[in-house]
Amino acid sequence: MATTYQIAVLAGDGIGPEIMAVTLDILAAAGRPSDVVFEYTSGLIGGSAYEATGHPLPPEILDLCRKSDAVLLGAVGGFQWDTLPSHLRPEQALLGLRSGLGLFANLRPARIFPQLVGASSLKPEVVEGVDLLVVRELTGGIYFGQPKGIFADEQGQRRGVNTMVYSEAEVERIGRVAFEAARLRRKQLCSVDKANVLEVSQLWRSVITRLADDYPDVELTHLYVDNAAMQLIRWPKQFDVIVTGNLFGDILSDEAAMLTGSIGMLPSASLGAAGPGVFEPVHGSAPDIAGQDKANPIAQVLSAAMMARYGCQQPEVADRMERAVLRVLEQGYRTGDIMAPGMTAVGCTGMGKALLTALD
Ligand code: IPM
Ligand code: MG
Repeated sequence: MATTYQIAVLAGDGIGPEIMAVTLDILAAAGRPSDVVFEYTSGLIGGSAYEATGHPLPPEILDLCRKSDAVLLGAVGGFQWDTLPSHLRPEQALLGLRSGLGLFANLRPARIFPQLVGASSLKPEVVEGVDLLVVRELTGGIYFGQPKGIFADEQGQRRGVNTMVYSEAEVERIGRVAFEAARLRRKQLCSVDKANVLEVSQLWRSVITRLADDYPDVELTHLYVDNAAMQLIRWPKQFDVIVTGNLFGDILSDEAAMLTGSIGMLPSASLGAAGPGVFEPVHGSAPDIAGQDKANPIAQVLSAAMMARYGCQQPEVADRMERAVLRVLEQGYRTGDIMAPGMTAVGCTGMGKALLTALD
């Protein structure tokens, strides 16, 4: 008897639809040997949803996600929507999805593929062997804290306000996710904050420090965010798991992504306490290359692998997809973002075909 999963497929804008098309075929094929069937229901999100319905995250799409076993997301955004009022911008769809589904834990692994060491802008000896995981808090902090807005004071001067706020409970639940993740890896956790200046970070640090008693097997360290940004490019191999708040995690995860040479290679998972997770590439919608068959579909494929592993508890399906990625890199197939002399240049669909052939 086949095991069936209902997958909400939100390809989004820009390169989203092309990398998603490639990925859905590979996911289906990777499921077959395990008798696992992924049933896809597509929906609009971001700019394309705004064009069709006037809203970047229509309520029926949030409902579709809630009823699914997992959500596979492409990317949202594009130049044509940059001037919309902020509540209608495509990015709002991501924030709405995160808060609507309670996805407080964002896992962003950055692992360098041995074949791509030369693609990094850092020296090979610095990036070789990098394998770290950023655990970013995703539904709190300055992204959601109140008050927020642009207000006029008595003199009619406008003031822009956002509030960085964390409750003990919010820190504790993301902290536990990070400690548990570290347990399954090299058992090192670095908590990143700005406790030398911010009270919210002092609370963060004290809660994480208290939690450490429950995880004596995990070695806990703390870094200020400015130092962490520096250490990430100075000697990234010192990191195993990094746990941090929403804004610092946004910034550090882009930096970590770049260590690996291309942001076009990195997947992410956003998980809540229960219910479906959202699995999406770390990169954006790349409107400048959309529709030209130039995009690298690997981050989307690896996001589907994360979905199989964490969203559907099908590690064999995930392993199969990850092995196929290693194999095509070994075989020398490269999209433009990771191209190197002597390699075989392929587009998005070409990479998709190579991946399908490489599946065992
Ligand atoms: C990310 C993105 C989003 C964020 C934007 C598009 C809202 O940068 O997922 O990292 O800031 O969280
Ligand atoms: Mg970001």
